[in-house]
Amino acid sequence: MANEWFETVAEAQRRAKAYLPKSVYGALIAGSEKGLSSADNLASFDQLGFAPHIAGLANTRTMNTSVMGQEISMPVLISPTGVQAVHPEGEVAIARAAQNRGIPMGLSSFASKSVEDVAAANDKTFFQMYWCGDKDTLVQRMERARAAGAKGLIVTLDWSFSNGRDWGSPWIPEKIDIKAMVKLAPEVIVKPSWLWTFAKTGRIPDLTAPNMQKPGEKAPTFFGAYYEWMQTPLPTWEDIAWLRQQWGGPFMVKGVSRVDDAKRVVDLGATALSVSNHGGNNLDGTPAPIRALPAVADAVGSQVEVLLDGGIRRGSDVVKALALGARAVMIGRAYLWGLAANGQAGVENVLDVLRGGIDSSLMGLGKASTSELTRDDVVAPEGFFKPLGTR
Ligand SMILES: Cc1cc2nc3c(=O)[nH]c(=O)nc-3n(C[C@H](O)[C@H](O)[C@H](O)COP(=O)(O)O)c2cc1C
Repeated sequence: MANEWFETVAEAQRRAKAYLPKSVYGALIAGSEKGLSSADNLASFDQLGFAPHIAGLANTRTMNTSVMGQEISMPVLISPTGVQAVHPEGEVAIARAAQNRGIPMGLSSFASKSVEDVAAANDKTFFQMYWCGDKDTLVQRMERARAAGAKGLIVTLDWSFSNGRDWGSPWIPEKIDIKAMVKLAPEVIVKPSWLWTFAKTGRIPDLTAPNMQKPGEKAPTFFGAYYEWMQTPLPTWEDIAWLRQQWGGPFMVKGVSRVDDAKRVVDLGATALSVSNHGGNNLDGTPAPIRALPAVADAVGSQVEVLLDGGIRRGSDVVKALALGARAVMIGRAYLWGLAANGQAGVENVLDVLRGGIDSSLMGLGKASTSELTRDDVVAPEGFFKPLGTR
């Protein structure tokens, strides 16, 4: 590629689309049902504007903060994504990029790399779990992550096992065997650089979830792990409080939309929550998190660290979320596009693009620090906000 550096996340996404086999790209686009929530996650940020100043601006600006006990260089975290086959170095490349830019790595329990390898690459790794398996299994996975050096636990609760998409779901094989290779050949053969990146390593994607491995067993396939999760009875709030106690350290609940749920999260003693609809991959019709954020931040922001994820593609999106009450944001697809476009350097590129965008937004708003942002810095159309679960 002539110039591998890209200037926006949109350009990284264009390159990812050109580079990845159709099924892998489709798995990252994700979304569910009609795609209402995934579309709203992006559209909602476009509907928000800024109220800028033009003189007396700050010559230098700061954006460092802390989340779940970790000092971080900017208010952005890597949100956990359980994806396979984007890049041979997968989550280890993402973790290194995040380490180099001074931000935490959220590692999915469905990820393609082990928590040991990832925590060795990033000393601010937060391990993410679903309520999956029996209590002994949950404790075993959690203790493995702790022993590997994970500094916090993220528990994601907003998954509804919806698996239909109006535009069709990509076919993902259980494992890469001869049958799968034949079926995938037509889409892979037209993506020679992706094929070459994997071929150079001498390994094909094995599509397993190493962090879901049970003692004495082989790592399950992605679908094997998903099946275990589907079979697990859904958790109660008491179950989550039990999990929180077992972990003891910094604890985030991811997937909150409603104020009443946010209060339950405070009651169980969580350190942080993320206002999130799982990138719109879940219960379709759930409003974009940015619409629900201010009500949650008003209700519990003094008791728990409030984060947001969903739809962040620019530094200005980060600034909008902070102005509306978030302490920091988490990103998903943005870094996945970077990883596909240019491996670890591509993820660093995305983080630099976001940092530059945060800085220029702060400058335009006349702020010397992200901590000076207030709601008056953002203009929203009437009816924009959706306070959920307030009665
Ligand atoms: C392909 C894909 C896989 C994901 N896998 C997980 C996961 O394993 N665990 C989790 O907590 N969230 C998962 N998420 C949700 C992200 O952590 C995050 O909430 C979402 O991507 C944020 O929206 P954004 O992609 O617009 O930034 C996934 C998202 C995508 C796009």
